[in-house]
Amino acid sequence: MKKIWPISFILLIVMTGCGTKISLETPVDDQTGATEKIYEEDYENDTEYLDIEGVLEERVEDTEDDDYTDSMASNQEIVEENIVDYHDLIIDLSDSYIDVDISDPRLSDLVEHLKNNPYNHTLKQIGKVTEPDHLFVLVNKLNQLPESYIPDDLREPQVRFTFSGPNEKRNLRDIAASGLESMFEAADRASIHLFALSGYRSYNRQRDIYNNNVSTRGVEATDKVSARPGHSEHQSGLAMDVTSESAGFNLIYAFGETEEGIWVKENAHLYGFIVRYGKDKTPITGYDYEPWHLRYIGLDLASYIYEHQLTLEELYIQIEKAIRFQ
Ligand code: DAL
Ligand code: ZN
Repeated sequence: MKKIWPISFILLIVMTGCGTKISLETPVDDQTGATEKIYEEDYENDTEYLDIEGVLEERVEDTEDDDYTDSMASNQEIVEENIVDYHDLIIDLSDSYIDVDISDPRLSDLVEHLKNNPYNHTLKQIGKVTEPDHLFVLVNKLNQLPESYIPDDLREPQVRFTFSGPNEKRNLRDIAASGLESMFEAADRASIHLFALSGYRSYNRQRDIYNNNVSTRGVEATDKVSARPGHSEHQSGLAMDVTSESAGFNLIYAFGETEEGIWVKENAHLYGFIVRYGKDKTPITGYDYEPWHLRYIGLDLASYIYEHQLTLEELYIQIEKAIRFQ
């Protein structure tokens, strides 16, 4: 793997010199085997930096010739086919049995949504989501938002941010903004002081961030931490990255072990959020552990997902299989 520490340290010096709030850290995570990782945003230049050394997860091979996924119904427009390098990070879930009780009333709205909007779960292609405005929209490596999609109800939640000044990333969709405000108020009451760092991310900004990371780190490392354009949940306006002073106002694994990160993990569902990229879920989501990335999905689904420790991918494919074969 390419050594890039000198670049990182140069960045640190430059940023400090400019008076930005960024400080780079080198957490070591025993659980994931990560030796060092830095993931940063330059608030001034609107650029994300990431720095990974060490292997975070073993790669899991695709199984591309599965009967079930071949026959999976989808009303999606197929965007690209055989994007093998992008799929190398994901396992095929079609043969997995996941214990989901679709008669649970908390799942009834999702069951209806999935009857009309099957998502793409095959590793052979990428689909474009058909209802980008839906609260339950699934955005991942296999399901892409349209380039032109911008939520029409974005607003700035009244919470603490790590940065000052106007920026699109302050915004969330109205319902998610209200959920975040409630969560931050509850956290404050428990003397847990959270900071919002990055919410809505336009298609163009995703492209710039992704390309910037690829040019310095390469595709493989970038795909583990940074979504390709149209594939970031941040474009849905339903995701917010949060951090804390104890995590140096950064997006780092260590946030998950702080008092604030533990509070988030145990309480976010009470305000309609899930920790989207769990520690042991990398083969399913295709992304490294992100204890900071919260996705608003509503109270019912958030509580079901929290209770059963599922990813959206596991829940959705299991319900779609049940719908298809019932
Ligand atoms: N870091 C998450 C996966 C994103 O880029 O949306
Ligand atoms: Zn995020």
